[in-house]
Amino acid sequence: MQTTAPRRRTASAVFEYRSFDAPLGAEIRGLDLSRPLDDETFAAVRRCFLDSQGVLVLRDQRIGPEQHILFSRRFGPLAIHVLRQFLLPGHPEILLVSNVIKDGRPVGLGDAGRYWHSDLSYLAEPSLGSLLHAQEIPKEGGDTSFVNMYAAYLALPASIKRRIEGRRATHSYRKTYDRIAGSTYRPALTEAQKQEVPEVDHPIVRTHPESGRKALFVNEGFTTRIVDMTEDESDELLPRLFSHCTAGHFTYRHHWQEHDIVLWDNRCTIHLAHGCPPELRRHMHRTTVKGDIPR
Ligand code: SIN
Repeated sequence: MQTTAPRRRTASAVFEYRSFDAPLGAEIRGLDLSRPLDDETFAAVRRCFLDSQGVLVLRDQRIGPEQHILFSRRFGPLAIHVLRQFLLPGHPEILLVSNVIKDGRPVGLGDAGRYWHSDLSYLAEPSLGSLLHAQEIPKEGGDTSFVNMYAAYLALPASIKRRIEGRRATHSYRKTYDRIAGSTYRPALTEAQKQEVPEVDHPIVRTHPESGRKALFVNEGFTTRIVDMTEDESDELLPRLFSHCTAGHFTYRHHWQEHDIVLWDNRCTIHLAHGCPPELRRHMHRTTVKGDIPR
């Protein structure tokens, strides 16, 4: 069920903004990204993004890669994904998240995000946010779930908050990649790729640079251990944090519609792609906005 849909007005645009009846998420209808937004309208969209708690769905965006990239760049410079083989030819800012096989080869990263994660948390400067644009969606499955990591932090028992206070955790792209390497989409990483993604440490609780609120910043995809803690203690505590986040209390599950763009905030959410039956096509374009050092 959805709540009311107030209109947001700027000098040159009027659009609907509606929060979902969920711990996070909201949608905008009636905004056309095929032409660049003026600064006031972009500022209004950015406000909606913050108000959404980290997941903003922009409905019915019939735009091409250039417009997708231009809109994404309004949030900041874009990252180029380390898996270069899955970038859209001519538009390296776009990662193809696709299960489509063409001439016997995968055109995109078909198994992207099948574990809870925050995009690029394995970099020293993880992503601010990602914009995933639906090109082809399956009749069945293909949903993406998101967790509100502000709410997950707030709901932690005080004893756990004390245990993680001021602590850092290690994030590694390679550990997860090596675990799933060998599939159609995952040939072994080259030495150059490995060097692009050394392990990094980040605070377990970060303060969102725009909202000023605290959010948990660990994810089972990339967070491998808690720094300066015994291995036993880390192996006990990290899975507890993961299952606390993903138990379902802080989750919104997105069922894709044609031409949706979903913009999520990697600083205060984690997400999971549920996958779809392999015979159904799912083809998406993702841009990833660079972020800052978590603090
Ligand atoms: C991703 O993690 O970027 C992929 C999400 C999805 O395909 O739903």
